[in-house]
Amino acid sequence: MRLSPLYDLLVTELQEIFDAENQVVVGLSTMIKAAQSPDLAEGFEDHLEQTQGQIARLEEIAEELEIDLTGQKSAGMAGIIKEGEAAAQMSRSLLRDLLLISVAKRVEHYEMARYENARTLAEAMEQDYVADLLQETLDEEESSEQILTEAVDTIMSDIYEQEADNKMSVAASS
Ligand SMILES: [Fe+2]
Repeated sequence: MRLSPLYDLLVTELQEIFDAENQVVVGLSTMIKAAQSPDLAEGFEDHLEQTQGQIARLEEIAEELEIDLTGQKSAGMAGIIKEGEAAAQMSRSLLRDLLLISVAKRVEHYEMARYENARTLAEAMEQDYVADLLQETLDEEESSEQILTEAVDTIMSDIYEQEADNKMSVAASS
């Protein structure tokens, strides 16, 4: 392949995404343990499995482009994962679940921006097969983000219910 600044940028982008996805694997393991709601823990587990598939897809891309995926760090993802660790340390509650979902959404939005840029660069380099693989992951990240948005609604109605129960028990005891 003819080397160009665009190609170099694509390689760097893929290396940073690869590091970001590997950080997600570690971060999700912490978040699975921290989730109070079994449904949320299960959702994070599904996402962990999906992330492993996305890493395998990046390895397929690396083979196609004959590049090495190591050597870059994603500072952005490191920051989000740190926020996840802080959320996981809160005392166990529905509010902690809400915060964990918010962190998971930050992960998705970050990844969507990175994959979109990588796909655009791959298209510019006429690497259609690579662009298609990146689009597949981008579609998965978008649908994960949707699932998280639905999870926020569920947690919020649980929080309202809990608050109503608390008010009722306070009224009964006074
Ligand atoms: Fe991902």
